[in-house]
Amino acid sequence: MDIRVKRAPRIEAEITVPGDKSISHRAVIIAALSNGVCVLRGFLPSDDCMHTVQAMRALGIKIEQPEPTMLVVHGGKRHLKPPAAEIDCGNSATTMRLLMGLLAGQSFDTRLVGGETLSKRPMERVITPLRQMGADITADGPNDTAPIRIRGSKLRGIDYVLPVASAQVKGALLLAGLFAKGKTTVREPAITRNHTELMLDYFLVRTAPEDGAVSIFGDQVPESRDFTIPGDISSAAFWLVAAGAQSGGHLLIRDVGLNETRTAVLGVLVRMGAQVREAIENVEQNEPRGIVEITGATLKPTVVQGKEVPQLIDELPILAVAGALANGTTIIRQAHELRVKETDRIAAIAHNLRSMGAQVIELSDGLEIHGRAPLRGARVPSFGDHRIAMAFAIAGLFADGETIVQDTDCVRESYPDFEKALDELADPKRMRMTTPVISSLAPARAEEE
Ligand code: S3P
Repeated sequence: MDIRVKRAPRIEAEITVPGDKSISHRAVIIAALSNGVCVLRGFLPSDDCMHTVQAMRALGIKIEQPEPTMLVVHGGKRHLKPPAAEIDCGNSATTMRLLMGLLAGQSFDTRLVGGETLSKRPMERVITPLRQMGADITADGPNDTAPIRIRGSKLRGIDYVLPVASAQVKGALLLAGLFAKGKTTVREPAITRNHTELMLDYFLVRTAPEDGAVSIFGDQVPESRDFTIPGDISSAAFWLVAAGAQSGGHLLIRDVGLNETRTAVLGVLVRMGAQVREAIENVEQNEPRGIVEITGATLKPTVVQGKEVPQLIDELPILAVAGALANGTTIIRQAHELRVKETDRIAAIAHNLRSMGAQVIELSDGLEIHGRAPLRGARVPSFGDHRIAMAFAIAGLFADGETIVQDTDCVRESYPDFEKALDELADPKRMRMTTPVISSLAPARAEEE
């Protein structure tokens, strides 16, 4: 499948985005370990998250799906059953890495396999600390890649400093820690998304957060509870850039997750000259959620680097597109991790931006993007990467002529209705007009030093 895009009319809309991918995975897994029935609403029924659902079903957990975005998870009180066959994680690294942690301490063996892009992703970063906990785990692919073979073992808690800031690895170790003897502490070099910690805490599992670290104590059973997953700010980011890079563009996104470990993208858009307001409406279930409003402008260039990077890692493809639309040179660096995502995102972004007429220098750990060259429509590959596909569909809204993003089935991994939302946003007839609603509630996000 391809996505075809033409220049967008002025955006003036109010939307919601589908459920948060990271939170959906964690909600399913932790509810599955709980001591009763949990109703999850706002679940993201994307390919990635459905692989987690299928995996937990394969491990003996009954999960009903009365509606696409609603799951009824019958928690098994930490008891999992040996799966009848190997578990297919599709292209979901979150599924595979979290399951590695979950399964290392069980009393049975499992084998995890992945699709084409997942089978190239590094797994050593999870294997090394799990082995220190006593896990018997091997990567059967070349260079420590999937398939992963896990022989259930008795685990002991460790105190581990993550060499790479990764929420997936942190989450895997916390899940392993739940089945380990004693206390497991994970220290991170830079703050990453804290959804595992918040979800465990919400399910009344005792964790001990400190500055830059979190600990969990083994042998606890999560208390079953219902949970509503907020909209995914990483999905919202595509629309925020679409409206934010248009002078006069105006977009309101309701019921979106506003966890501060995920909102760095808003700060970058402010630095780039967009006006952004956010209002947290609810923190009852630990995950802050609310409204974001953006008013567009001719964007200014910026530099993205350092500790900010892990907090907007998934937004870098669309921020690179924003950089191409900005008046000057935008630099993204210290983002080596982009090279080991669903594709080498640094190379993919450079390739596609150049095809559309932008001048880009590829750095070993990022990109230098010389902005505001007029973009022209082109045929650009997705490289099998959902966020590359969506970022370049948005680039097409700012290009002359038609942009054809090729091979976009991968978009289903995180945003199955992306194309429908794109059609709606780019079609003035279907647009819902809004008036600014939160200007009175929240001050505009100010530029930070
Ligand atoms: C995720 C963590 C990030 C992110 C991914 C989702 C998670 O990956 O890129 O899309 O849910 O924990 P890393 O842990 O590899 O940084």
